[in-house]
Amino acid sequence: MRIILSESKEEAINTVASTLIEKVAEHPKIVIGLATGKTMEPVYKRWVEIAKDKNIDHSQCFFFMLDEYLGISADHPSSFKSYIKRHLLIPLNIEEDQIEFPPVDRPLKEAGTFYESRIKDKGGIDLQLLGIGQNGHIGFNEPGSLKNSRTRVVDLSDDTRVVNSAGFIGEMPVRAVSMGIETILEAKSLLMLVTGKSKADAVKFLLNHHDDSSCPATFLKTHSHFNLVLDPEAASKINLKI
Ligand code: F6R
Repeated sequence: MRIILSESKEEAINTVASTLIEKVAEHPKIVIGLATGKTMEPVYKRWVEIAKDKNIDHSQCFFFMLDEYLGISADHPSSFKSYIKRHLLIPLNIEEDQIEFPPVDRPLKEAGTFYESRIKDKGGIDLQLLGIGQNGHIGFNEPGSLKNSRTRVVDLSDDTRVVNSAGFIGEMPVRAVSMGIETILEAKSLLMLVTGKSKADAVKFLLNHHDDSSCPATFLKTHSHFNLVLDPEAASKINLKI
């Protein structure tokens, strides 16, 4: 794991957005796994700004979403599909056939294997963008998830439902489809951004524990290309110097 300590939240966001842009410019056919959440909103904003400024072509890229709620329609304003359309696809003119979403409309029994086969067909994920939950979840792999978990239907923890209900329109779902930990570990590289005080305990736990299912993010530390970008608040409970 490589830790990148930033001097400000803006710098952390810029580091992540610039890394994504560099990768797209170097490898136009890159396959990127996308995350949602509040942390990622300014990243997508910056990504769009830099891409427009530098005229970066995204027409050959392919994207996979990390997770999606169950029990709401795909065009629900709080679905992750709507989120990513709003923040990335529409601003960058990325076509709908350049992205795959967890198949929440298929029989749920086969949703996981179907999604995994789509990832395999595309040659795997080159770069997976990640945030972390205050409870250490990754995607919707909640505490208790196993290291060898694959894409599947998951129950959202009460903690996650409370945190995510801020800004959620309508009733908060109880389940989701999420890539599993092992699925995420198969991505060639992982890029995690953590910002804000509310994540400082999760970051401290992540750095001090290994393979601990009470904080699924700890499973990612065995990945050979795991970059963790922190802003000063997220890093405020650990002893690292820039
Ligand atoms: C997003 C996701 C989640 C978030 C995490 C942090 O697709 O799967 O793991 O990364 O819940 O969310 P925010 O950034 O809203 O604190």
